[in-house]
Amino acid sequence: MNFELTEEQMAVREAARDFAQLELLPGVIERDKNMQYPAEQVRKMAEMGFLGMMVDPQYGGGGMDTVSYVVAMEEISKVDSSCSVIMSVNNSLVCWGIEKYGTEEQKQKYLPKLASGEWIGSFCLSEPEAGSDATKQRTTAEDKGDYYLINGIKNWITNGGTSNIHIVIAQTHPELGHRGINAFIVETSWEGVEIGAKEDKMGIRASDTHTIMYNNVKVPKENRIGEDGFGFKFAMATLAGGRIGIASQALGIAGGAYELSVAYAKEREAFGKPIANHQAIAFKLARMATDIEAAKLMVYRAAWLKDQGEDFNSASAMAKYIASEVAMKHTVEAVQIHGGYGYVKEYHVERLMRDAKITQIYEGTSEIQLIVISRNILKGQLYVK
Ligand code: CAA
Repeated sequence: MNFELTEEQMAVREAARDFAQLELLPGVIERDKNMQYPAEQVRKMAEMGFLGMMVDPQYGGGGMDTVSYVVAMEEISKVDSSCSVIMSVNNSLVCWGIEKYGTEEQKQKYLPKLASGEWIGSFCLSEPEAGSDATKQRTTAEDKGDYYLINGIKNWITNGGTSNIHIVIAQTHPELGHRGINAFIVETSWEGVEIGAKEDKMGIRASDTHTIMYNNVKVPKENRIGEDGFGFKFAMATLAGGRIGIASQALGIAGGAYELSVAYAKEREAFGKPIANHQAIAFKLARMATDIEAAKLMVYRAAWLKDQGEDFNSASAMAKYIASEVAMKHTVEAVQIHGGYGYVKEYHVERLMRDAKITQIYEGTSEIQLIVISRNILKGQLYVK
């Protein structure tokens, strides 16, 4: 077993860490407070190559492995999870899905724009009445011969106000249930795509999350991804990869809270000594470090399995489950360690705590991850020796 990062992966970590400290930390509190989309920061992330890290260089991407992507996500999430969710959706839900399942024409047309950050993508699966129960798609894609006509509403769409393309999941053959669902690449400039209200969220407030309406949107046949009826499996397979991105976001949030807590606890004195020297605080730090290390091993392993071409479905569900639970638990502890200072914006940990919550919800709630894991146990795919 080798737990070491390669030189390239370490260089990516260092570059992402420096970038986060220099470019994302200044203004992160204000952007969060004002729900201000980080346009300038996204442009700089694009310049750094963070928006298409795993895309093959022949389509303009960085050609890196998933572990490199995970360490970059982790470092950026320590500081600014609004930026890291924009990065995660573009890399793993949009670019990866097109590269893995798209036609050569789709890859050539869309990946260079997405990987360079000229265009940003959204993944449009959730609906007002189809969140966790994702097969119940009400958005329809009527087959009209050489095009599809899309009608419906999507909810909670990350990058919804800024993206140039949407991956839209819609029902074509209701009588076939989930086997009648298709996935499409839809350009947001096309007639009938309407951007709805922006959500006022608890966390990741600088990212833009919108409702989207599709009113008789004509989508050329060549923009369907995969065979007729492949859309639900496409969504599930793409989300399995996406969950590694959110797991690494959660890991970064927990890691950021931990680093701030250690620094604060060593500096802040109470009862004649640094609070880190009081067992009540020292044990909190010890639990944090241990849980983060455990989550890290699972997140990196899920990424490594994906890089080896192995089945990573259970590993990504487990990684997201554990990392998001650890992030929530220990950001609460970080606020507690900081006491009154933790409750105000200036010390960052209250934002990390608010940001942590969404990692237990989006790209499949913790409960959905447990469904995926438990079904794989019952299928005999998971065992403990
Ligand atoms: N890869 C490929 N196919 C898969 C798969 C995978 N990982 N997982 C399931 N499937 C296939 C199954 O094999 C099955 O196909 P067949 O019937 O042909 O064999 C089909 O999909 C349906 O599977 P299930 O019977 O298991 O479906 P289900 O209705 O019981 O639901 C679920 C399964 C796991 C609960 C699923 O609905 C799910 O993941 N729900 C959560 C949805 C979700 O994550 N939403 C997040 C929104 S996106 C987002 O948050 C993005 C953002 O902007 C940040």
